[in-house]
Amino acid sequence: MKNISRKILLNPGPATTTQSVKEAMVVEDICPREKDFGQLLDGIKDDLVKVVHGEETHVAVMFTASGTGGLEAAITSAVPRGKKLLVVENGAYGTRMVKLAETFNIEVVRYQMEYGDYPDLEKIETLLANNKDISHLAVVHHETTTGMLNPVQEICDLAHRYHAEVIVDCMSSYAGIPIHVKEWNAEYLISSSNKCIQGMPGLVFVLFKKSLLEKIKDTKRSFYFDIYSQYTGFEKTGQMQFTPPVQVAYALRQAIDEYFLETESGRWKRYQENYQTLYDGLKKLSFEFLLPDHQQSKILLAIKEPSHPKYSFEGMHDYLFERGFTIYPGKGAKTATFRLSVLGDLHKQDIEDFLQCLADYLNEI
Ligand SMILES: Cc1ncc(COP(=O)(O)O)c(C=O)c1O
Repeated sequence: MKNISRKILLNPGPATTTQSVKEAMVVEDICPREKDFGQLLDGIKDDLVKVVHGEETHVAVMFTASGTGGLEAAITSAVPRGKKLLVVENGAYGTRMVKLAETFNIEVVRYQMEYGDYPDLEKIETLLANNKDISHLAVVHHETTTGMLNPVQEICDLAHRYHAEVIVDCMSSYAGIPIHVKEWNAEYLISSSNKCIQGMPGLVFVLFKKSLLEKIKDTKRSFYFDIYSQYTGFEKTGQMQFTPPVQVAYALRQAIDEYFLETESGRWKRYQENYQTLYDGLKKLSFEFLLPDHQQSKILLAIKEPSHPKYSFEGMHDYLFERGFTIYPGKGAKTATFRLSVLGDLHKQDIEDFLQCLADYLNEI
């Protein structure tokens, strides 16, 4: 394999991957309609459910797409015509679900907050009580805009009391933060191959309660992103309906194996340790954070932009990028921020090296 230097990606995915995940993509050419490839996908689907302990209740369906494709599949397949979708919107990814639903003429009830505000359960309850035709509630577990961990368990419990099903965007938490989908009792959970599972971009997956299959059979708003036809088609043929990203699937197989080897608690411990190292180091450098500690996902920090006259995000980004570290801009949080995430194959030494490089940049300006 070509000798490639290791880059430290502190953007929230696509993440730094292991050498073995990169190498897993170098495989013999294979037609994805072959049985061998179908078996690979079948095993991946089962394991994706195991990651969140959803065996027996939930199944997985995959699409060739980035994360948003999975949200499109869940929302357009799940919400029946004439019903409403309530979106808990305290970040850009909440807003994305609103725009997505509206594109398909799905009526949306927005619980709009400033990006970085914590959801108030009483307000959600009022919206559910006042809109009896809400059939689904959508919420982002880890709002990557701010690093906030939304109270998904409480929101699921509340929605279910009002007979609304729940769609949880777990894009940047799945396989990072331990999730028990049966305890949440969430109907739909979406994530992608390139975040905390540490694979390559190109596959998105929707985990959903198998018992819902008949219910969504005729909803069909999208041809490509229809959960029913994609799931039942695979059951019948062992093939995805449309061309899968073959090499990305091999990388995902390897990434899942590495996840189970590290274990759920091992990965979470590594992420938390990296987060703490980053948090402590940034504090020492006098940075301030957008969120209070108790609302943090411990996967991503939104950091207030320094007011130093010589500071610019671009300047800082370019200085760090030339030295092998990628950082990420803010995304409309209520205070100007930039973002750093610890998701990916990162280790304590990587974070310490980054902090040293950041300190050098600050000294230079
Ligand atoms: C919370 C969340 N939702 C959805 C997405 C999907 O984005 P994309 O379609 O670019 O993969 C992301 C990507 O960062 C995300 O963090």
